[in-house]
Amino acid sequence: MKMTPAVLIIGALMVFWASAFIIVGIPSMTMKETPSEIWRQLTPEEEAGHRLYVINGCSYCHSLYIRVSDWDIGAERIAESGDYVGVEPAILGTERTGPDLSQEGGEHPEDWNIAHFTNPRHTSPISLMPSWDFLEEREIRALTAYVQALGGKAADVRQARQRQWKTQAVAAYSGGLDRNVEWLHAQVPEVWRRMPNPYPATEAALQRGKRIYQQFCINCHSPIGDGKGSAEPYLSPPPLNFTTLRRHVVENRYIGGIFYYQIMNGITGTAMPYFKKHLESEKIWDLANYLAVSFVGYTDANIEPRGIDASYEGAWRNSYPPPGTEAK
Ligand code: HEC
Ligand code: HEC
Repeated sequence: MKMTPAVLIIGALMVFWASAFIIVGIPSMTMKETPSEIWRQLTPEEEAGHRLYVINGCSYCHSLYIRVSDWDIGAERIAESGDYVGVEPAILGTERTGPDLSQEGGEHPEDWNIAHFTNPRHTSPISLMPSWDFLEEREIRALTAYVQALGGKAADVRQARQRQWKTQAVAAYSGGLDRNVEWLHAQVPEVWRRMPNPYPATEAALQRGKRIYQQFCINCHSPIGDGKGSAEPYLSPPPLNFTTLRRHVVENRYIGGIFYYQIMNGITGTAMPYFKKHLESEKIWDLANYLAVSFVGYTDANIEPRGIDASYEGAWRNSYPPPGTEAK
């Protein structure tokens, strides 16, 4: 066949319509209008947030539909088209530069989201997500409301849980230092409260801990561990000031297991996220030693009774005086 201009134009149009049918036609035909079991109507504020999600191109980095093999919480319940009934346009996205957001609602409390949208580096120091601080406060709130609604009724359950724990966390914080630390440590199961850090606090371990701290914790807990990082003005309760913990550690003798448990699981209701998906066990123990040595001035590393044996112990000896025996 001879390649005339007419053939070229018709051919190009056919390719265009075929791709448009595959990319737009088939998905819109398969979107159901029957709500799924977690669907609920969006409120006007959440709808305004959805507009902002579309306008600001969040879908260039985030999906609202996950693959079962992915790590993000969306994989705990794969999104169905019935989750997005009435959402116009429902941009589910295929780009996964950032985490999937289909079950994002209630993953973090509101204050975390507001700090994060204002500047993602406040809560996630090495994040490449852009800041949205050019938005008005009302718009940041709408975006937060929308993100908190992702996951429908399942998200509402998680949100209610966040709010219930937040009331307790704020009450404990308002009750003063002793009450707060007591409350925080009471959330940690007994076996962890009596578990020393099994890893030695060698120079290398402390350097590793420091590096992880700078990547994940620094803008909340601050470079000197006093909780006055750049995120602090947004958060209630504010990030913990580690330097105030010494007396409690002296009374308890152990701190490694407490730090480990809190870093692994986060503290529901507060902005403190869980890190079990980001950090392997050894990294969390190294972090716990770094916090203890640098900010509290004492570590229980490698003392008895050892709940867990570290894979290495070397010749390291704990030179931190056991609490209570130091000179007054
Ligand atoms: C350039 C890519 C990019 C764009 C655009 C982007 N994000 Fe992100 N987002 C990320 C990355 C990477 C992370 C993970 C690091 C972090 O927490 O900031 C993230 C994290 C998040 C999280 C937290 C997820 C979690 O639970 O840890 C939310 C919520 C979120 N983004 C919402 C949005 C919204 C809403 C928009 C649009 C207003 C947006 N993002 C635009 C890349 C992006
Ligand atoms: C988004 C802010 C934020 C980030 C990021 C963050 N934290 Fe926290 N952290 C908090 C808040 C808020 C609390 C709870 C304060 C309260 O209830 O008084 C807390 C509490 C803690 C506690 C509890 C200590 C105790 O004695 O009970 C530990 C340990 C801790 N954070 C360690 C870390 C480490 C390590 C990282 C980084 C891997 C980190 N945090 C990242 C905000 C944050």
